[in-house]
Amino acid sequence: MNLLKEKILKEGIVLEERILKVDHFVNQQIDIKILRYIGQAFAKGFKNQGITKILTIEASGIAFAIATAYEMDDLTVVFAKKDMTAFGSDDYHTEVYSFTKQRSYRVAIDKRFIEPGDKILIIDDFLAHGNAVLGLAELVKQAKASVVGVGIVIEKTFQNGKAKVEAAGYPVHSLARICSLKNNQVHFDE
Ligand code: G4P
Repeated sequence: MNLLKEKILKEGIVLEERILKVDHFVNQQIDIKILRYIGQAFAKGFKNQGITKILTIEASGIAFAIATAYEMDDLTVVFAKKDMTAFGSDDYHTEVYSFTKQRSYRVAIDKRFIEPGDKILIIDDFLAHGNAVLGLAELVKQAKASVVGVGIVIEKTFQNGKAKVEAAGYPVHSLARICSLKNNQVHFDE
């Protein structure tokens, strides 16, 4: 079992058989040993693919994107912003529906930060229904750049995010794959 899965079993808290709370090392506090492990694992998983930039979304994806960038020859990290008050012709933007939060929000990136031809690695903390990742991929498309792959720290395979993202043509590499949170217990796919 890898470091990340051990940490999930030790400190993750399951809510309503559907949500995994990981505030101890993902959403509020960062464990640097786990962070380094995650950065190294993504760098290994996506090596030699000509990636030019890493893209994530605020807030929790940022730390993992940076850890990965350190391990991939100091690639630049860009993070999409949520719910900016003014969107305009200087931004690529789209709408994302969150099943977890049951609301839509807008995501945007200033056009200066993704260039046509960029080969983008998307990194995020969770993959549930895939909407956040597909929203980011839409911004990349608007910029006439391409998504090389998607790195996910924790995937909930009992929701259908990976199938949706891969059907759109983007390979997904997840470091911990959770197949069930039934009876408030974490079960991994493998
Ligand atoms: P999707 O993007 O895969 O479709 O998932 P969804 O809309 O349902 O998720 C929206 C938000 O909820 C995302 O955070 C996502 O990381 C988070 N999330 C989904 N499932 C879980 C879970 O089981 N545990 C935790 N801790 N978070 C989950 P966000 O709105 O982007 O917020 P932030 O944490 O990055 O600030």
